[in-house]
Amino acid sequence: MKAVVPDAQPRKGRGDNEVFGEGENRDLLPPGVKGCRLSMIEGKGEDSPMHWRHKDLLDLDTLTVAEIETILQTAGAMKEVLIRPLEKLPALRGKSVALMFYENSTRTRSSFENAAKILGAQVTNFAVAQSSVNKGESLLDTARTLQAMKIDLVVIRHAASGAAEFLAKHLEAGVINGGDGQHAHPTQALLDCFTLKEHLGGFRGKKIVIVGDILHSRVARSNVIALTKLGAEVMLAGPPTLLPAEMKALGVQTTYDLESALPGADAVMALRLQLERQRSGLLPSLREYSRLYMLTTERLARTGKKTFVLHPGPLNRGVEIASELADSACSLIEEQVTNGVAVRMALINLMLGGAGYALDQECTPA
Ligand code: CP
Repeated sequence: MKAVVPDAQPRKGRGDNEVFGEGENRDLLPPGVKGCRLSMIEGKGEDSPMHWRHKDLLDLDTLTVAEIETILQTAGAMKEVLIRPLEKLPALRGKSVALMFYENSTRTRSSFENAAKILGAQVTNFAVAQSSVNKGESLLDTARTLQAMKIDLVVIRHAASGAAEFLAKHLEAGVINGGDGQHAHPTQALLDCFTLKEHLGGFRGKKIVIVGDILHSRVARSNVIALTKLGAEVMLAGPPTLLPAEMKALGVQTTYDLESALPGADAVMALRLQLERQRSGLLPSLREYSRLYMLTTERLARTGKKTFVLHPGPLNRGVEIASELADSACSLIEEQVTNGVAVRMALINLMLGGAGYALDQECTPA
């Protein structure tokens, strides 16, 4: 099912800006690793990663299960590239990626920047605070400016749901949604799925609980789409004002009682509580919220099994998650951040390079 990457070059070692491949210098590989190569994943018809058919990634509803799995598998190969002493892949030399973050971001923006640079692409950080947006330039004119600069791929985060779709309609360049309003955050869901798959092995028969402000959460929405597609059982828990009944239409169960949702859960994802929700009257008090919905070690014990804890960040310690639980052995929060780079490398490579990769079977995972 796998073929060696046809244009793979001999791996020359750290800092040489070369990809590993046929004719590799085995003495540069870590002990126990022989002939480590990336192999192209082959697929059939529309699902073939050889022919990635999407110009944009606005949410995960447009991806098939095979396409999501291709991203996750390619991310696995990319993670090995990051773990090993192998540096830039020259795959995207000559390609340009623009990062347009109209909303604050720590993880997503820096993760995309690292991912694109590791792959050899040129990255333009569109500094919104210093840009002509502040002089009243519209998103459409900004898009036209990017078009004129011959950018290949744009990553946008915006407070307005639909901003990424708007940009995608007006640009020949590919657009990745880095989070738009309350709509979607597809790469967060992909990295969450990747992290869960590493620890759970797969999704069939697994129960994932997502707790918190479901109503306003683009992370929850994209995760529900991805996790249900991959075959997981998803249960949403939160206060009635923050848990819309319509979510059931996406094939999940909902409850206002977190403790009744926990038995049997393989993983629980706590969402960030946007503190302005209290001011808008959707919560009586943060104290009340924490009493009923904060994830704590004692509460997690109700699952009755080993359960992993996730959180997309940034954390409100002591509000939606107890600090000692966030820092405990069952917490995957830092791994989520690490995996975000590998997942975004996989996605950028697929969208600009057109191929999905796996590690050659001879290569022992680090
Ligand atoms: N999870 C997430 O989107 O984090 P940032 O807001 O820091 O990008």
